[in-house]
Parts: sequence; structure tokens; C-alpha cells
Amino acid sequence: MTKAVLLPEPGPPESFTWGDIDVPDPGPGEVQIRQSAVGLNFIDIHFRSGLYSVPQLPAILGREGAGTVEAIGEGVSEVAVGQRVAYAGLHGAYTELRNAPADRLVPLPDHISDDIAAAIMQKGMTAQVLVRRVCDLGPGDTILYHAAAGGVGLIACEWAKHLGATVIGTVGSAHKVPIAAAHGCAAVINYETEDFAERVKDITDGKGVQALYDSVGAKTFEKSLPLLAPQGTAALYGQASGPVPPDVFTRLPPDRFFIRPTLGGFTSTRDDLLKTARELFDVIERGGVQVQINQTYALKDAAQAHRDLEARRTTGSTILVP
Ligand SMILES: NC(=O)c1ccc[n+]([C@@H]2O[C@H](COP(=O)([O-])OP(=O)(O)OC[C@H]3O[C@@H](n4cnc5c(N)ncnc54)[C@H](OP(=O)(O)O)[C@@H]3O)[C@@H](O)[C@H]2O)c1
Repeated sequence: MTKAVLLPEPGPPESFTWGDIDVPDPGPGEVQIRQSAVGLNFIDIHFRSGLYSVPQLPAILGREGAGTVEAIGEGVSEVAVGQRVAYAGLHGAYTELRNAPADRLVPLPDHISDDIAAAIMQKGMTAQVLVRRVCDLGPGDTILYHAAAGGVGLIACEWAKHLGATVIGTVGSAHKVPIAAAHGCAAVINYETEDFAERVKDITDGKGVQALYDSVGAKTFEKSLPLLAPQGTAALYGQASGPVPPDVFTRLPPDRFFIRPTLGGFTSTRDDLLKTARELFDVIERGGVQVQINQTYALKDAAQAHRDLEARRTTGSTILVP
């Protein structure tokens, strides 16, 4: 028996219960992990609320975690018992002990603690996809980054600056402005009190931005499209404020690129997964990105963590500790 956060039915944060589950021995190709930290992600809210469907009920939410391999199943060669590992994109993270497919686990180097790993595997690898592969940013690029003080946001903005780009970030409250500014943003706009489109036009002298990164969706995406410079790229990778209208893409000006990137799509092979993680670990080791774990909750308090993330009270990464 092990303790886990269970979701009997989709619903509000109060739907979670804290209970016992049986974790069977790992099957062929599987590994059993004693988890020391679990990452909280905005997508967990979409699964909890029922916007996205869970594989089964009662569900164990969460897709990001880190810990130590306690047992391995038949045929596992990727990791060994006693090794520290982490993962992203695997359902069932809100538990003390879990099984996971060995080929989706990333061994952790010494300079990445379990807490840091749980804070970055989903968010930091998504940042890698955004700033290195959706666009390979560099000096001369100016970007507009919405929700810049969030989990993915702080890592991506700091990484973009490290690559030489000029980052214009938006945030939803005054206390987030200095946090975004300290993590890569040359200019920070509070989009609750300022017209971000007018500010971006002013800041760029009307030239617009080479890349738009939007995980806010309904509230920001359509208004941002005219701010893209010719040959610029609009990356829509989330919908924290709700979905964009289905025909919004017809309003993309000519000669601009559009992509809906997913971490899963960019890390579907083991080779891609390991390369993405390695680049993330390297940029942290070089000091190009400082990971901010700004909220830590006991795993059993996942409901409060969800309330805070959903109410936009968090900044940077949030972890849940079993
Ligand atoms: N495509 C992928 O593979 C992928 C992977 C990872 C994450 N994501 C997406 O990336 C986004 C960021 O993820 P995260 O876990 O790091 O979350 P996060 O950015 O820490 O939290 C979401 C932020 O969105 C902003 N927001 C704007 N309107 C909102 C609203 N109506 N309700 C709630 N939040 C609102 C808030 O910042 P302000 O208060 O500053 O507005 C909030 O802090 C999410 O949309 C997530 O689904 C996508």
C-alpha cells in the first residue's frame, strides 16, 4: 500500500481525496519509482476539471515527478535500481510510489536535485521546445511572451534572454512584474491594467516581434496576431484563459508561421527526450536559467496547490512533496 491523491470524478479541487493504493510489481519494460517530488502543471487543472479526459476513474493526476528507482521489470536496460530519475508527460504522478515505462525516464545528473527535476521536466523541456526548436532564438530577435512569470514562462524567458533575444513579457498582477523582469524580460507589461498591444507597438517602434508565445489563449491570442513581424512565428501552446475561437487562424496576417507545439510531439523518441533534457540540464548548469520553485506543498495538499495555480496566485514552478 502507498498513499496517493485520488480523483474519484472530475470536478473542483475539493474532489481530491487522500487514500491508499496498491502498486503492483513493475511489469516488463517498467520501473518502480519511490518519488521524492512531484511537479504541478496547469494541464493538471484541465484534467481535474474534466476539460481533458483522464484514462480511468478514480484517476491519479500529475504528469511530472522525480525519485529513485526501487525495482525494475523484465527487460529494463535504460535505468538501474538506486538511480535517480525524472519524467514528464506520464499520467499518475500524485503518489508516493509509482510504476512508469523505463524508456520515458531520464537519469538525473548530480547537479539536478530531485526537487529541481520535478520543477523542470515538463515546464523546462517545454521551454526548450519553444525557444530552441519552434524558433531557434538568438541576438536580434524580439519576442512577446504571455504569462511570463508562470512555470514555463520564467524558464523560457530567462533562456530566451540567455540566447540573446529581447523579451517582452506580460503578467496579470503588479507583484509579478519584478519577478518576470528578474528572469529575462527586458520589458514587462501588466495586461490587466495596460493595453499590451499598444505597449508592444511602442516598444518595438511598430516593427513587431519575431515570435509570439501564448499559453493564455482566449484573452490574448487574437489581439497578439497583428504584433507579429513578417516571417514571424505564433506559437499557441496552452489555453489558461479558455480556447481561442476556431477560426482565429484566418486572422493571422500573411507570411507568418503558426504552430501548436506539444512537449509530447517534440520528445516522442527516446533520443529526442534525452537530448531535450540534456540541453535543459546544461543551460541550468551554465547558469543560463535559474529554476524558481516558488511554491512547495505536501502532496496531500494538492487541492490547495490547484486552487492557488488556478487563481493565478503562483509564480514560477510548484512542487508537491510526498
Ligand atoms: N503544449 C504543451 O506541451 C505544454 C506543456 C507545458 C505547459 N503547457 C501550457 O503552458 C501554460 C503554462 O503552464 P504552467 O504549468 O507553467 O502554468 P503557469 O504559467 O504557472 O500558470 C498559468 C498562468 O496563466 C496566466 N493566466 C492568464 N489568464 C488566466 C486564467 N483565466 N486562469 C488562470 N491562469 C491564467 C496566469 O498568469 P498571469 O496572472 O500572469 O496572467 C497563470 O499564472 C499552460 O497553459 C499549460 O497548459 C503546454
